[in-house]
Amino acid sequence: MGFMTIDGQRVEFTNEPNVLTVIRNAEIDIPTLCYHSELSIYGACRLCTVEDDRGKTFASCAEPPRDGMVIYTHTERLRKNRKLIVELLLAAHCRDCTTCDKHGRCKLQKLAYQLGINNVRFENHREIQPVDFSSPAIVRDPNKCILCGDCVRVCEELQGQGILNFAFRGSELQVMPAFDKKLGETKCVGCGQCAAVCTTGAITV
Ligand code: FES
Repeated sequence: MGFMTIDGQRVEFTNEPNVLTVIRNAEIDIPTLCYHSELSIYGACRLCTVEDDRGKTFASCAEPPRDGMVIYTHTERLRKNRKLIVELLLAAHCRDCTTCDKHGRCKLQKLAYQLGINNVRFENHREIQPVDFSSPAIVRDPNKCILCGDCVRVCEELQGQGILNFAFRGSELQVMPAFDKKLGETKCVGCGQCAAVCTTGAITV
């Protein structure tokens, strides 16, 4: 057991796996795109980043709680960083939100709204990819993928299937079945867990 100070509030913790869980137990709202308590930590989106009393920033989902920690969750610097992250994700994302199956349920859309983003300053340089309609159960639209990796981990870690994975590197990075197969050509059982955790409309049922 220990105590940490979050936004000036003394908060007790016991066996919480990370600072993010302690923050949420204190009923402080903090955005995340790639954290799921039942999956491994990926730490990719950086939206959960917090700042300590020395000005050091770190992803709260990947940091174990330590006694005496003093952290801030919503400083001006963090707010600006989160806004920039979401803006960059939106820039590399197709803009068909109003006709998207996930419209109104999309985590990225919700974050953009919460952070007051009504203009994306950056151009989308990603090549348009074909939508995969080959599976009888699941539609995969790579143009809406923000590479949070949630589908990859749920397919591997919860379903034990490992149908989806990351391919290529850097700006070419994509999530897809091995050897760029269509979903209908893989052993995907169509459980829909990937669609359930997908943060955008990239995978839908
Ligand atoms: Fe912590 Fe994505 S939720 S990095």
